[in-house]
Amino acid sequence: MYNKPRNDFPILNNTYNGKPLIYLDNAATSQKPISVLKAVEKYYKEENANPYRGLYQLSVKATDAYEEARTITAEFIHAASPKEIIFTRNTTEALNLIAYSYGRSVLQSGDEIVLSISEHHSNIVPWQQVAKEKGASISFLYVDPLGHIPEEELDKKITKRTKIVAVAHVSNVLGTIHPIKNIIEKAHSVGAVAVIDSAQGIPHYPVDVQELEADFLAFSGHKMLAPMGIGVLYGKEELLNQMPPFLTGGEMIEYVYEQEATFAALPNKFEAGTPNVGGAVGLLEAIKYMNKIGYQTIENIEEDLTEYALKEMKKIPDIKIYGETNNSKTRCSVISFNVEGVHPHDTASILDADGVAIRAGHHCAQPLMKYLDLAATARISFNFYNTKEEIDVFTDSLKKVRRWLGYGN
Ligand SMILES: Cc1ncc(COP(=O)(O)O)c(C=O)c1O
Repeated sequence: MYNKPRNDFPILNNTYNGKPLIYLDNAATSQKPISVLKAVEKYYKEENANPYRGLYQLSVKATDAYEEARTITAEFIHAASPKEIIFTRNTTEALNLIAYSYGRSVLQSGDEIVLSISEHHSNIVPWQQVAKEKGASISFLYVDPLGHIPEEELDKKITKRTKIVAVAHVSNVLGTIHPIKNIIEKAHSVGAVAVIDSAQGIPHYPVDVQELEADFLAFSGHKMLAPMGIGVLYGKEELLNQMPPFLTGGEMIEYVYEQEATFAALPNKFEAGTPNVGGAVGLLEAIKYMNKIGYQTIENIEEDLTEYALKEMKKIPDIKIYGETNNSKTRCSVISFNVEGVHPHDTASILDADGVAIRAGHHCAQPLMKYLDLAATARISFNFYNTKEEIDVFTDSLKKVRRWLGYGN
């Protein structure tokens, strides 16, 4: 058991307006441990050069650093080969890559793409664009009031017309953990491919793409301790090989003629232009850090924090919590709520005055908001470095919200 993860995160020792920072917006982006910050700094101080292009030592070092990050990322998610790891900017770019490259080449008029209603916009809008272009349609899996996708919905919506099923591993609004193995199996049973958006999953739960038999899986480095600007698309090698390039230009070609070009082999085919080597180095270090702590410890701490927060929040009158509130095994450490009669932006501002950073808004999930008949929610989200003491400050501050706005309690 790794005891003191909190001290590894320098930003958590800062104060703002004289108040210690209580960072409860980890679903938006995580904070970064000192080892990641140092690794990125070391790379830029000692190894920075444009990879692949140079025939000099420094460029070879940069190439090695980038490829080591790819190898370690492949091991982290149990990919069969590093060739199946495509570095992107983030989850959004990875999902766009699948939609524009795979979706555009396989979808035909009348085909269906199945998404859950609780998807983030980045797992909806690219599919809308491609569906429009190809004459395909989108069919939504509607969740129950706790955010779970009912089995009957899967059976009803995943049909012979389905070519792609794309769902989040974990909802960024309700925190629901979706049964992705089951969903992948259902997709395969009708000959569809399964796309998993693990942006909110992999920071908290281990992923084994081979065991899951996932066809594609996307995540962002910045939500799992790495810097912003580095993301990952996993794809099965046979699928990636069949797919046309997404972005084109330098580094992704084999040979360029006046009127046409041939393309590089995997993974370079999908990585046009100068890559984010510093970001990949940061991601490698973040993976090492997570491996050192271990997912079991991460899960234990976060489950404990989530249970505690739910228990304390339920004691406050006029708080409505969305999603699962009784079973922290089927939900992640993301909690959406509202204070009755208060706009969540006001809630967030009042908490901010106490040094508590939370998110408020539609969380890039407007179809879910509309489905739940909500304009917006406030949202807290924990990482393993949060503490119960921070939750106490949060709930104390939450108790003041209605009073500040002139309500009697
Ligand atoms: C479930 C989910 N998918 C995708 C994204 C998009 O991630 P990014 O902005 O890093 O591309 C997010 C971001 O919050 C998310 O929560």
